[in-house]
Amino acid sequence: MLASALDGIRISIHVLAAAIWVGGQFTLAGLVPALRGAGEGVANVAAKAFARLSWPAYAVLVLTGLWNVATFQTSQTTMAWKIVLGVKIVVVALSGLSAWLHTKAKTPAQNAVWGAISGTSAAAAMILGVFLAG
Ligand code: HEM
Repeated sequence: MLASALDGIRISIHVLAAAIWVGGQFTLAGLVPALRGAGEGVANVAAKAFARLSWPAYAVLVLTGLWNVATFQTSQTTMAWKIVLGVKIVVVALSGLSAWLHTKAKTPAQNAVWGAISGTSAAAAMILGVFLAG
C-alpha cells in the first residue's frame, strides 16, 4: 500500500535524521584514523562539526518518534510491538547518554568505551525502528 503524503513526510524526516545520527557516527569513526594523520586537533575539529549536525538530528528523531507513536491506534498494536517500542525508547536514551559521555571522555579508554556503546546503541535503535515499521 502506498503511504499517504503526511506519513511519507513523517517517516522520511525520521529516516533522514536516523541516517545522520547513526550513519554519521559510523562514517566519522571510519574517518578518524585519516583525520588524526592529517594533523593534531583535526579529528577534534571534525567531531565538533559533526556534533552540530548530530544533536539536532537526535532531537528530530525524538520529536518524529513521538509523532510516529501518535499515528498508531492502540487497536493496531500488539503486546510484542509495545515491548519492542519500550526497548527502543531505552536504547534511544542510552544512545544519547553514551554519545554525550563520549564527548566528555577524559581518557582514551573512556573514549573507546562510550564511543562503542554509542555506535552500537544507535544501530540497535535503527534496527528496532525497522521492526516497528513492520
Ligand atoms: C536514535 C534514535 C532513533 C533512531 C535511529 C530511529 C530509527 C528508526 C528507523 C530506521 C525506523 C524505520 C522507518 C521505516 O522503515 O519506515 C523507525 C521507525 C519508528 N520509530 Fe524510530 N528511531 C529513533 C528514535 C525513536 C523514538 C525516540 C521513538 C519513539 C518515541 C521512535 C518510534 C518509532 C516508531 C513508532 C517507528 C515506526 C514508524 C511507522 O511505521 O510509522 N523512534 N525509527
